[in-house]
Formats: sequence, structure tokens, C-alpha cells
Amino acid sequence: QEQNRELRERLAQLKKERNAIILAHYYQRDEIQEVADFRGDSFLLAQKAAETDADTIVFCGVHFMGESAKILAPNKTVIIPDERAGCPMADMVNVEGLRELKRKHPNAKVVTYINSSAEIKAETDIVCTSANAVKVIQSVDSDEIIWVPDKNLGDYVSKFTDKKMIIWEGYCNTHDMLTVKDVVEMRQQYPNALFVVHPECRPEVVKLADFVGSTTAIIDYCKKSDHQEFIVGTEDGTGYQLRKDSPNKTFHFASKYLVCPNMKVNNLKKLVRCLETMQPEIHVPEDVAERARLSLERMLQVK
Ligand code: 13P
Ligand code: SF4
Repeated sequence: QEQNRELRERLAQLKKERNAIILAHYYQRDEIQEVADFRGDSFLLAQKAAETDADTIVFCGVHFMGESAKILAPNKTVIIPDERAGCPMADMVNVEGLRELKRKHPNAKVVTYINSSAEIKAETDIVCTSANAVKVIQSVDSDEIIWVPDKNLGDYVSKFTDKKMIIWEGYCNTHDMLTVKDVVEMRQQYPNALFVVHPECRPEVVKLADFVGSTTAIIDYCKKSDHQEFIVGTEDGTGYQLRKDSPNKTFHFASKYLVCPNMKVNNLKKLVRCLETMQPEIHVPEDVAERARLSLERMLQVK
């Protein structure tokens, strides 16, 4: 605790020196969320990165998030606490595979989940996050959509559109781990609780939910609800904001496996160190960034 206090003091000093803003995803460790200027889901944090007038963005999340921030704010320095924090789902789709699909379906538009590399975004018509996926799909002027990389979110979104969706077979290792059996057992144990779930979970699990939404949507829903008890089907870092908003409500995470090890690679010590050394820094080759920026900016314009 004493060490954390010292780290927080050092952080405050460095933030001023570097004119830095700290963005933290809701899946980060509590010790990081506590010191962040903004906490948010993928969409809110991308928006913040695009809007900030700070010189330095410290992105506490996983690699593709830092990359998206750099693409949207090319004149800022973007640093991350640890470059080993990747997203396995983002790594499940490769440029060659996507190009092949595009060749097979020349009339289709490519909609890409933000959980993807800059190279994939550069091959994309429009990016989406779980917060705006349905709106983005509906905004695309094509009857055929190539969807990468999350098959679970793709399945969820396909229920809201008549468009033909060609869905890549990727998934989030963490959310995909939640099973129907887990949920049924939790419901038996906590019969008065509502079950809220992230659409990165399997379709058969999503089907059981009282509410489906992105991380922010889940947080908002639980905050506004008159209900007192919830079974939560998303990453356990979300507990920080849920409990902060509603200290008297009870939140049970639906499985002990709802922990993303990549998100937890970052910690307060590494956060301070990266601001000290200004490393690791995110770089995106300009030709890739330019094309990826178009697909990200199109997303930010969807109302
Ligand atoms: P959101 O932040 O859009 O809810 O996405 C969840 C996620 O898995 C981020 O990696
Ligand atoms: Fe990737 Fe899933 Fe972790 Fe998000 S929670 S970073 S989608 S592995």
C-alpha cells in the first residue's frame, strides 16, 4: 500500500511533466482504473483518444487499442505499459485470409470489430465495437457483409439485420469460455439475480440473458436498474465500475474464468515506468495508418 502511494505520487508528477492523459479499459486491474483520467469500453476510449489535446496518451488496455489511438491521434505520442498485452482474438484473422474472402465476395463490404490489427483495419470499409455494431451494420449500403473476426458478436448482430453475413471464425478466449452450464448453476444459486452478458459470449449463453450489451452498456444498465442483484457475463475487471456506481448492489461474476490474462499484464508499476521511459511507444506505418484511419473515422461518424 505504501509502495502504491509512492507510485501514485510519482505518476501524478510524470503526468504533468509529459502533459499525459491516462485511458484505461474497464478490464484493467483496479490499481490502474483508480488512477485513470478516463475509464471506458473500446468505443469510448477510441473517442477520447481522437478528441484529446494532451501530448501523450497512455493507453492501458491491449495492443490493438493503443494502435487505434495512435491511428486516430497520429500527432500524439502513444505509449502502453507492456507491449506483451495482446488480444488473442485480434490475432485470429490475417490479411491474406481476409483478402481471399474479399476476392470471393467482391460486392461485400468489410465490417471489422475494433479488436483487430491496424493491417486488418486497413483492409476494412468500416470498424465497429460491441457498443455500436448493430448501428454500424445497418449503416452499411450493401446487402452482403464480410464480418471479422468475432463469430459470437457476428451471430448476435446478424439477428438485427437481413443482410447476408459472411462471418470469420474468431472468438474471445475469455468470453467464449462461459458455458450454459455455468449460467444455469449461477441462476440456481442466485434465483433473484438478473443475468447480464457481453455479446462476445457464445450464442447459446447470450440467449439466456436478461440484458445483452457492450461493457459500458452493461455498466449503465446495472446502474439504472431497480434490481439489486446481478450475474455478470463479462470480464471481471468490470466489477470496479459496477461496485463504484452501485455500492449497495450485489454482482456475481458468472464464472471464475472471466478474466482476460492479457488485460491483466499491465499494472501500476509498469504504468509509471512507461511514463518515465516513454516506452514502449506505439508506431503504425503511415500507409497502413492512413487506410485504417478511414475505417475508424467512418465508425466515429455513425450516429
Ligand atoms: P468492449 O470494450 O467494446 O465492451 O469490448 C470488450 C473487449 O473484449 C475488449 O477487449
Ligand atoms: Fe481480447 Fe477477449 Fe481479452 Fe478483450 S477480453 S482483450 S477480446 S481476449
